[in-house]
Amino acid sequence: MREILVIGIGAGNPEYITVQAINALNSADVFFVVDKGEDKSSLLALRTDICDRHINDQNYRLVQIPEPPRDREASAYAEAVQDWHERRAGLVEAAIIEHLPDDGHGAFLVWGDPALYDSTLRVIERVLDRGNVAFDYRVIPGITAVQALAAQHRLPLNRIGEPVHITTGRRLTSGLPDGLDSAVVMLDPGLACADLDDPDLHIYWGAYLGTPQEELRSGRVRDVADEIARTKQELRRQHGWIMDTYLIRRESPPSSEGRT
Ligand SMILES: C[S@@+](CC[C@H](N)C(=O)[O-])C[C@H]1O[C@@H](n2cnc3c(N)ncnc32)[C@H](O)[C@@H]1O
Repeated sequence: MREILVIGIGAGNPEYITVQAINALNSADVFFVVDKGEDKSSLLALRTDICDRHINDQNYRLVQIPEPPRDREASAYAEAVQDWHERRAGLVEAAIIEHLPDDGHGAFLVWGDPALYDSTLRVIERVLDRGNVAFDYRVIPGITAVQALAAQHRLPLNRIGEPVHITTGRRLTSGLPDGLDSAVVMLDPGLACADLDDPDLHIYWGAYLGTPQEELRSGRVRDVADEIARTKQELRRQHGWIMDTYLIRRESPPSSEGRT
């Protein structure tokens, strides 16, 4: 029976990789990575760097799976994502059949942790449901961008006894959910928090976390949002891509109160 490991490789720093992930890397012969196109080629390079650093037998094979184009303008967002997952499942299925022998050990290298805003596990379940190829699979957790952000800003994510809310820029446009004073925001191409009219809102922002290009900013949203938005534009132009994450938190003065 084929075996597939879905390995979280951490969100940027090759040293985020866990001992469990290193052992998993060394048990696989074929590595599948999703190729997101040229603008993200440095992400692919980072994955290759991880394989080069941590795999003892360098005779492994790296198989790139092209990412199918996604209709981001579709009005029916959920259906468009389902359709995209189905096309990805077709490509993943074809790659497994072509490159992984019946008793082979394959691995998918997933940025950060596979449980957080990543479709690999859904796509793998789809491949199994299609019934054209059989395999077992296991998941190895990784360090997420959220953990990297909290560490770099030396922040606890929750206030005492309060929940942690993780959301997307798209969802933040309607504001913080009722009863919540903070949220971690991912997948925000602009800076959605800049439009929230709240003088007590603070932001803890990080881009390219864990990498040599890392940028950190923090302050009152009102005071720093314009500068962060400009920095994002400039960095995107410079590197061809950007990944950033931030925590926003309502902090009544004195601001240190919320950080205990
Ligand atoms: C598709 S999600 C993948 C999340 C990933 N599975 C994780 O565990 O962090 C991509 C989003 O993660 C965040 N992200 C991932 N890596 C990052 C990094 N090194 N620095 C800042 N944000 C990052 C950004 O918000 C980006 O838009």
